[in-house]
Amino acid sequence: MATTPLNIYFLLLVYFLCETVVFAEPIPLRSSLSPLGPNSSWSSNSGRFKFGFYNPSDGFKVGIWLLDGTNKTIVWTANRDDPPVFSNAKLVLTERGQLSLRTDQGQPKVIAHSNKGNVSSASMLDSGNFVLQNESLHILWQSFDYPTDTMLGGQKLHSGSQLVSSSSDTNQSSGRFQLSMQADGNLVLYPRYSGRTAYDAYWASDTTYHGTSFKYYLFLNNTDPQPLCIVNASSSNSEILWWRGDSSFKGNKTIYRATIHSDGVLRLYAHFDNADGKHQVMKLWSPPDLDNLCNVNSFCGFNSYCTVNDNQPYCNCLPGTDFTDPSDHNLGCKRNFSEAECKGGKDNATSYFMYPMEHMRVGDLDLPYTEEDILEGECPFSCLQDCFCGAAFYENNRCKKQELPLRYIGRETQVSSSSYTIYFKVGNQSLRSNNASFSISEPDQPPPIKTTSKKAIKVIILIVLSFVILLCSAVAISSRFIYKIGVLSYKRLLETGDLGLSEGTTLRVFSYNELKKATHGFKQEVGKGSFGSVYRGTLHKGRKLIAVKRLHRFIEEGEREFQAEMRAIGKTHHKNLVRLLGYCAEGSKRLLVYEYMSNGSLEKLIFGDSTVRPDWDERRRIALDIARGLLYLHEQCKAPIIHCDIKPQNILMDEFFRAKISDFGLAKLLMPDQTRTFTQVRGTRGYLAPEWNKNTPITVKADVYSYGIMLLEIVFCRKSLVVNMLNPEQIVLSNWVYKCFARRELNKLVAGEEVDNSLLENMVKVGLWCIQDEPFLRPSMKSVVLMLEGVTEVAVPPCPSPDST
Ligand SMILES: *[C@@H]1O[C@H](CO)[C@@H](O)[C@H](O)[C@H]1NC(C)=O
Ligand SMILES: *[C@@H]1O[C@H](CO)[C@@H](O)[C@H](O)[C@H]1NC(C)=O
Ligand SMILES: *[C@@H]1O[C@H](CO)[C@@H](O)[C@H](O)[C@H]1NC(C)=O
Repeated sequence: MATTPLNIYFLLLVYFLCETVVFAEPIPLRSSLSPLGPNSSWSSNSGRFKFGFYNPSDGFKVGIWLLDGTNKTIVWTANRDDPPVFSNAKLVLTERGQLSLRTDQGQPKVIAHSNKGNVSSASMLDSGNFVLQNESLHILWQSFDYPTDTMLGGQKLHSGSQLVSSSSDTNQSSGRFQLSMQADGNLVLYPRYSGRTAYDAYWASDTTYHGTSFKYYLFLNNTDPQPLCIVNASSSNSEILWWRGDSSFKGNKTIYRATIHSDGVLRLYAHFDNADGKHQVMKLWSPPDLDNLCNVNSFCGFNSYCTVNDNQPYCNCLPGTDFTDPSDHNLGCKRNFSEAECKGGKDNATSYFMYPMEHMRVGDLDLPYTEEDILEGECPFSCLQDCFCGAAFYENNRCKKQELPLRYIGRETQVSSSSYTIYFKVGNQSLRSNNASFSISEPDQPPPIKTTSKKAIKVIILIVLSFVILLCSAVAISSRFIYKIGVLSYKRLLETGDLGLSEGTTLRVFSYNELKKATHGFKQEVGKGSFGSVYRGTLHKGRKLIAVKRLHRFIEEGEREFQAEMRAIGKTHHKNLVRLLGYCAEGSKRLLVYEYMSNGSLEKLIFGDSTVRPDWDERRRIALDIARGLLYLHEQCKAPIIHCDIKPQNILMDEFFRAKISDFGLAKLLMPDQTRTFTQVRGTRGYLAPEWNKNTPITVKADVYSYGIMLLEIVFCRKSLVVNMLNPEQIVLSNWVYKCFARRELNKLVAGEEVDNSLLENMVKVGLWCIQDEPFLRPSMKSVVLMLEGVTEVAVPPCPSPDST
């Protein structure tokens, strides 16, 4: 066939199309890059994007950057939290289609590979997407699926995934904030080290949809001037539910980019060519509220508050605290005075004073707090005396007392309806001087254990003596009188039922006066729970110890319902549950009477004095005790009981150090509608399952989650949230444990302790299964018991919250 002009024209057209539009020259297998020299990156066709080694500060990282003239914007980094590599590193696309980073130190690190098919080449596409592809250029792996802090035009963020900010503008490792595309359709900005509840969120698209069957994704369009949108993936026409951008914007060859910056703000940019053909960058949108960076939660860390001066945000420590790290004021503050000894829940008021600050915006009300019905003037005083109170303010005729740490605190420049005067507890003695006085006074005081045992001996001698006297006088008195005493005590026994003398099944109804007398006018407070204060008391002329709980927060409810509820709780009997003996419901007063647990709470045992910490076998036994109690509540009662507030404070130890669950059944009483969500959440932060924040019903699996958190606390004798950690990785125990577990470095967590490694790993694995974000992945309490007993094997758990890493 002769070549006609038309044919030539056609061939030319194909040639141009191929050259300019269709593909970038694929990168063949066995290609490689090194940090220095001409082969340090692979370019996209347009030359705007490059993949290869970049030089952050000390060493090199592998990533993708966008070029505007000579300006580089890093849009992706491989293994961003790994340390930088040296100039002798080499990046190889191996014969088997793996992209692998080779260094002098250790094994080569695989950056990209596919098990979906045979990789035959790689490409840096003009969209900024780096891909591995097969022979027919079908994409098998793409960097767009593993976003770091940036999305580019054409990229999707599926529900359940997130962008995580970088540490700083020059350090691309994971920072302190994240943008989550949630399964419920809401796009939310959170501090990364937080429980990701409504309190933690500092911006949201407010596109929460009910029902779990639909899927949503965030999409950055590369053509539309309103490019950032949330799409209903379940609708056939990809219905757009929300969008942001700038409809007046018109640019040539625009590349859209959305980045969550190290300051926590999401910003949308357009990179385009201006009339002179020069590259230019313009910000199209960011959440307007966040123009004031003080509105970014956790912009200032724990125990600090944010103020704006000359449009610049500053972090300031709360009274009585100093910066944790003086060189980085964003990391929060810690107390700079030592706390006086806490006796029976009461603080030594002379060691402290209350420092008022006006116009304060209260931050996270979900942190532990209690409230009291007292006069405004008494509020600071009440906090002063309360060991657990770190700050107090008055709202709606109630004194709200909060524990430290505090967060998300702000200060208004003028009076507003949402600001308060907050009183902060500040110590008189600085850390150092108090320590000194402590060591001087210490030798004078005998160790406390000896005092108690001496006391006990005295008491025993007294009792024995009085018995001898009683016996002698009894013998001396006529037999008739002895008979009378016998009858009297028998009658009293009948009156009181079999309470305390044998295992009974009936609950006793007490009068308020009776309990007032039994507790000597509520004199000895032994604890404070989320539902009320607990007092020590005695019955039967001091023979039977009881714990009386006075409920201070409850939903107004008839006596009849209360009694029905009490009877239901009274029917639950298990050796790992604290027994309810009776109750009192008079007027608005609601009191519960429990058996007395002489060894206090688990909290005291595992977080208290390190010399009395249980050993490994003990920890496993305690964990098993609690698991069995929960198993009973969940599966062996007539109707399953969801505890809703499993935490170490609610686990009590009896005289044989048997762990028993307390406060069960109260959740139902105090929050009848357990399916309520978001702000009505009860329970305790840190132990709360993620579904409390979603529109999904609460099931027994919520308890399994709290149990898992507590199990890790028991294993490592460390609280789940410790604020003053210089390494932010360690603040949230569960995250840290998973990281160490994944890196096979669990021994880092038990520095200096004798450990049975297989037992440790087993308990950690069970804990990690329990705290999976997805309730259906969590085991039942039955499986937990079997796994802890060693009856069933424990599989290797996946990352508990894939959303957060
Ligand atoms: C490069 O960055 C500098 C400083 O941020 C800016 O002034 C300049 O306009 C940028 N150049 C281009 C081509 O975007
Ligand atoms: C998403 O699409 C599905 C299927 O068309 C529809 O039933 C659902 O209501 C949509 N969701 C929203 C929030 O519009
Ligand atoms: C604690 O820090 C505050 C604020 O930084 C300071 O005013 C106070 O004197 C310090 N207190 C002690 C006891 O060091």
